[in-house]
Amino acid sequence: SNITRFIIASNRLPITFERNVDYDPSKPDSGEKWHFKESSGGLIAGVKGITIPYTWIGWLGQGSGSLSDEEKIELTKAVKQKFGYTPVFIPDDIANLYYNVFSNQVLWPISHYLQFTQSAQNGTSWDAYCQANRAFADAISAVYEEGDAVWVHDYQLYMVPHYLRQQSSTVPIGFFLHIPFPSSELFRTLPQRYQLIDSLLDCNLVGFHTHDYRQHFVSTAQRIILDARAEGESIISRGRQTSCQAVPIGIDPTVWNAHLENPTVQKLIEKLKHDFAGVKLVIGCDRVDYTKGLPLKIKIIDQLLTTHKELHGKFVLFQIGIPSRMDVKEYQELTDELHKLIGEVNGKFGTIDWTPIHYIGRPVKQDELAAYYAVSDACLVTSVRDGMNLVALEYVCCQKDHHGALVLSEFAGARFLLSGSYTINPFDIENSAETLNLALSEVGKKASEKHLNNYKIVTLTNTAEEWGLRFAQLLLDSIKDSFFHL
Ligand code: G6P
Repeated sequence: SNITRFIIASNRLPITFERNVDYDPSKPDSGEKWHFKESSGGLIAGVKGITIPYTWIGWLGQGSGSLSDEEKIELTKAVKQKFGYTPVFIPDDIANLYYNVFSNQVLWPISHYLQFTQSAQNGTSWDAYCQANRAFADAISAVYEEGDAVWVHDYQLYMVPHYLRQQSSTVPIGFFLHIPFPSSELFRTLPQRYQLIDSLLDCNLVGFHTHDYRQHFVSTAQRIILDARAEGESIISRGRQTSCQAVPIGIDPTVWNAHLENPTVQKLIEKLKHDFAGVKLVIGCDRVDYTKGLPLKIKIIDQLLTTHKELHGKFVLFQIGIPSRMDVKEYQELTDELHKLIGEVNGKFGTIDWTPIHYIGRPVKQDELAAYYAVSDACLVTSVRDGMNLVALEYVCCQKDHHGALVLSEFAGARFLLSGSYTINPFDIENSAETLNLALSEVGKKASEKHLNNYKIVTLTNTAEEWGLRFAQLLLDSIKDSFFHL
């Protein structure tokens, strides 16, 4: 048999809504009532490239929960008609505890080897997390049709498999984690460790980006769930069999290639080539998140310009920082720190006709980003922990002609995939600066060889399409092998 349709569930839909403030039903030229923007993050980029038919269920972001019932119906209709997605509405106060607190102040930092707050002790945020996850499970059940398989995504929805299994012992459930799964030494500090792991074991298949994350999950499960034991590639517990696999995500190269062929983008590429002639241009593009190592990145540039005076006037870091989770204190503080550090470096080295760091603190359109990727001599990824890092893959894809260098943190999952990278330990600022300098000096030479290696992986063997197909196949296999669910 085959999977005819996936029901994809992720916290965030690929669109975020905005109310059109100029909207006036009596004025036909005032536009439509709702505006939609593209959401950012690796999950969206990967899922969009899946070629198996799917329908998508998710949240529209803060503010959607306080709309009137009538507006919720209108918005649901608009989202269905325009995109074919189903929004899940979560009251804003619950969403705050579920999204800002439990997902992003407890699970997110722990998964990236950081612990900031004691919020995990806070029963209310856990209750809200469960309530939101139950709302997702109900929304999934409401659209479920015979032959569908459910594919749940990421740490915000760890409890969804549990609620779904309560409703059906046979529905095929796959789960993919887009972030690292940490060592059991860290995961076991969570007061809710048992419920979280037990819910994942209600899946037929659990997928991770790397073997390390998979291994961490398997050993965590065996330590936390009394009867859990590993058998082959699965975990067996309470009559359940859960296949655990490394299935690294990819991007959709056709989307980026189409951008690169777009005449407007080509014009921008020509203009940038002219404007930055004789300059070594390095691109960075990150959500402003403490996992991305942005302060380290700026310190690496500072170090580079301190030791390599020959680069003065001939080097630019073009950094795009996409604001993210700005209701969370740590993200506000990071934004301030980053602005300060960039200001310091530009103040220290800049001249009337040269600014070493060009910073854009807002999202840029994808086609524009394709042009920035295409003209850059290197891409610098300094994550202190990162599930995969799709920016690295996107850069490689857009370097079809130029063969620039990928300077990649060894703490990003992508380093296991892209063997043609210049790897750095971003905590080692001196060495990272030297590696960046080396990479820049090898563009057009050794970097080209390395690039071609990465290019094949990104555009042929590890695309989002392949990822979707592999996941579907593994899910089918897991159901076939299972002696319990079906
Ligand atoms: C990461 C997570 C995604 C998340 C994205 C953007 O890639 O794995 O689940 O959607 O960041 O973060 P946000 O909180 O804005 O959805």
